[in-house]
Order: sequence, then C-alpha cells, then structure tokens
Amino acid sequence: MSSLKRDDVPVLAIDGPGGAGKGTVSRLLAAALGWHYLDSGALYRILALAASRRDIELEDEVRVAALAPDLNIRFGTGHDDSVWLDGEEVSAHIRHEDAGTMASVVAALPAVRQALLWRQRAFRQPPGLVADGRDMGTVVFTDAAQKVFLTASAEERADRRYKQLIAKGIDVNIGDLLADINARDARDSNRAVAPLRPADDATVIDTTRLSIAQVVSQVLALVTGEN
Ligand code: DC
Repeated sequence: MSSLKRDDVPVLAIDGPGGAGKGTVSRLLAAALGWHYLDSGALYRILALAASRRDIELEDEVRVAALAPDLNIRFGTGHDDSVWLDGEEVSAHIRHEDAGTMASVVAALPAVRQALLWRQRAFRQPPGLVADGRDMGTVVFTDAAQKVFLTASAEERADRRYKQLIAKGIDVNIGDLLADINARDARDSNRAVAPLRPADDATVIDTTRLSIAQVVSQVLALVTGEN
C-alpha cells in the first residue's frame, strides 16, 4: 500500500473542446504511465441519461444535482472503456451525439458541477491520474503537476467525428456535425461556471495537423521533462 497522501498523487490534466482527441490521447497516456484515467465527460453524460430516464427536466438544477450523489456508476479499467449505470451497460447510450448535447446542458448548471466534484477527485489514486475534461486544470485539479489544453479547428473535429461514425456504419451529415460542434463549444465556453478555457499554466497543443502518436509523445515529453 502506498503512503502517498491523495494531494501528493500526481495529476496530468487534459482539457479541451469535444473532438480534439482528448479521450484517445488520455487513455494512451494513462496506459503509458501506468496511471488511472478519469473520463469526466462520461460522468456528465451518465447524469444526463439518468435524469432523462427519470423524466427530470435537464434544466432542473435542483433535481438533477440531487441525483448525482446516489448514482451507481462503474467504469471498466485499462483498455475496457465500458460504463455501467445501476448495473446496466450504458456505454453505447452515453457515447451517442445526443447524450453529448444533453451532458453539455446539465454541465452548465453550477449545482451539478459542485455535486460531481468529489466523484472526480476520488479518482486521484496512486500512482497517478490522467484527468480528461473541460475544467480539470482550472477547477477540479488546480494543483495538477502538468496541464495540457488540446484543441483543433472545429472543421477538423467535425471531420474526425464524421470518419468515426461512418466507420461504425452510422450515416451522418458533416454539416450537421459541424453545427453541433459549434453549438456545444459555444455552450461550454460561455457558461458562467467553469467555462472551457486553458488554465493560465496550461500548455496548449493544436492537434489539427498532428497524429495521435505525435500528440501522445509531446505530452509524455512534458510529463517526463524531456522537451
Ligand atoms: O468530453 P465529453 O464530450 O464526453 O463531454 C460531454 C459534455 O460534458 C461536454 O459538452 C461538456 C461537459 N463537460 C464539462 O462541462 N466538464 C467536464 N470536465 C467534462 C465534460
């Protein structure tokens, strides 16, 4: 058993807009470092799903926030990116485009963000944590040892998403995807609480013209001080 206190456990914060490659890059970084991984967006997605299943209005701040403490959530570990809610596998549900939009709506509510704070901080376990989200470096883990803000043009992000969905056999319109991305960026960036922005001490990496492997090695170089 490690004697590290929770605050001493190193955190690598990876923030940025949807579709910038944070999820893929963060999982690879966690595997390379042998650290835990927090997909904070999944928590907002699950909460939105749980609220809609209980017929709670997504804007009903008090009722949505009240759901958060009792949510029975389980994440797969390592290469398993499955997610369970109340014992039911909900991975496909929460990865759907609509679930992202619903998550962005509940994520704008201050009481909801407050209610999910401890759940996110509980992921900080030895030997370290890669935390992926919008406000990892600015709010949840302000003392993170390294903060990275991954971004890419909205067109590039729409194009990546389009290719992912087409590969899965899901027919989509790229113009609709771009419109969704712009709407979600605007909601995430303009909300009053924890808006999407790089922390003052974050390293901003524009991934538009970079491969996943290049992004991973740039971030690893930051973590190991070899840059
Ligand atoms: O990263 P994602 O696409 O799974 O996130 C879904 C939504 O949740 C996103 O539009 C904004 C919100 N979110 C947030 O506000 N703060 C986080 N740390 C993670 C996600």
